[in-house]
Amino acid sequence: MIALDPAARANTTVINHPLVQHKLTLMRKKEASTNSFRRLLNELAGLMIYEVCRDMPLQDVQIETPLETMTSQVIDGKKLVFASILRAGNGILDGILNVVPGARVGHVGLYRDPNTLQAVEYYFKMPKNMEERDVIIVDPMLATGNSAAAAVARLKQCKPKSIKFLCLLTCPEGINTLYKEHPDVPVFTAAIDRELNDHGYILPGLGDAGDRIFGTQ
Ligand code: URA
Repeated sequence: MIALDPAARANTTVINHPLVQHKLTLMRKKEASTNSFRRLLNELAGLMIYEVCRDMPLQDVQIETPLETMTSQVIDGKKLVFASILRAGNGILDGILNVVPGARVGHVGLYRDPNTLQAVEYYFKMPKNMEERDVIIVDPMLATGNSAAAAVARLKQCKPKSIKFLCLLTCPEGINTLYKEHPDVPVFTAAIDRELNDHGYILPGLGDAGDRIFGTQ
């Protein structure tokens, strides 16, 4: 078991809202069906994105209510990119797009080499004009941190305005690795679990998120 770096912890927001924690518990249970696992992930993602978007800039607009003209505030959702790390990241997309439907979506395809546990890229597609956009990378499990760090490094080549990382679960290894390589990328998660096992799985965790979302086990 490795220690959590205090600086990495300070860069991590654990979203401990009771609804988030309740749904996470239901997802962890081994008897949760594919259907309920996917539905819960959608619901959780929709709740968690509130916290991730807390500091999004607002713009003043003039609108007319049925009674008066007023100045009110809106976000520019189109400036936001949700970058899904394939394939499990796609399980988060529906839930967050329900809340921010105008956001653009990118995909990063990385697989973990089973021997080295290092990330290898096989797909990368982002919207145009990334310099104008804020990116939220999504992947349910921040485990070794290698795929996350590789995805962030690849995205930085597009020079977006900012990058945040949203996951469901993580562990000290994942947070420490990502922070060491990218201390400028804040992490949002529902829980920091105890440790990684020798196969790169989070303990106690919830198993293989991709298999549980897509029913491929
Ligand atoms: N990926 C998963 O799906 N689960 C883990 O526990 C670690 C990585």
